[in-house]
Amino acid sequence: MEKTIINKTSEFVRKKLSDDCSGHDWWHCYRVYKIATRIGKIENADLFIVKLSALLHDISDWKFNNGDEKLGGKIAGRWLKSIGVDNGTISSVCEIIDALSFKGNDSIAKMRTLEGMVVQDADRLDAIGAIGIARAFAYGGYKHRNIYEPGVKPKKHQNFEQYKKNKGSTINHFYEKLLLLKGLMNTKTAKKIATGRHFFMENFLKEFFEEWDVSS
Ligand code: ADP
Ligand code: NI
Repeated sequence: MEKTIINKTSEFVRKKLSDDCSGHDWWHCYRVYKIATRIGKIENADLFIVKLSALLHDISDWKFNNGDEKLGGKIAGRWLKSIGVDNGTISSVCEIIDALSFKGNDSIAKMRTLEGMVVQDADRLDAIGAIGIARAFAYGGYKHRNIYEPGVKPKKHQNFEQYKKNKGSTINHFYEKLLLLKGLMNTKTAKKIATGRHFFMENFLKEFFEEWDVSS
């Protein structure tokens, strides 16, 4: 029964997000689902809630939903009801989806449940390391951002509105968000994975600046 629900939900998400180029594609959801399951097993979380929340977490992102931050939860809830999932599970999953988006520096989304913490960690892990680097430049291109703009300093965002309006380079995004994620992991298991991915990004940046600043 749970397996059928997971399979149907994967199919639903895959169809809905198949042509996204902004880093919220089906494969992002699939990777988050895989690593959330791995972390959830080690951390003894409820895997059914973890899996459903991971699969559905980007079904409607705030950057694309005209300001309705709760739309993702609504779409997910409607979907889960339509395939006969119980109300308790639906409310746990919707709570996680609504709380998930990272909102700039000061208003970091706090998760109430272990399952929420696991999915949040999994989503953040997919934003760092080699895949995180690839996603950042893909998203930057999608938003017509430069790779790097010497002289334009990274900004510390005071609030969510500033974060949304930011038009900096993708390299700045590393300092504004990606390098902060390691310190925000909720679970021990994710912290360990994040350490390796963080180190990889630091080396990438080191190499990037070395190549950029080559003396003539
Ligand atoms: P998610 O909803 O999956 O947590 P986001 O919506 O914050 O992630 O971003 C999706 C991807 O795009 C992430 O890999 C993120 O690092 C990247 N991204 C978000 N904002 C920017 C930006 N200003 N410049 C470059 N990449 C960005
Ligand atoms: Ni995501």
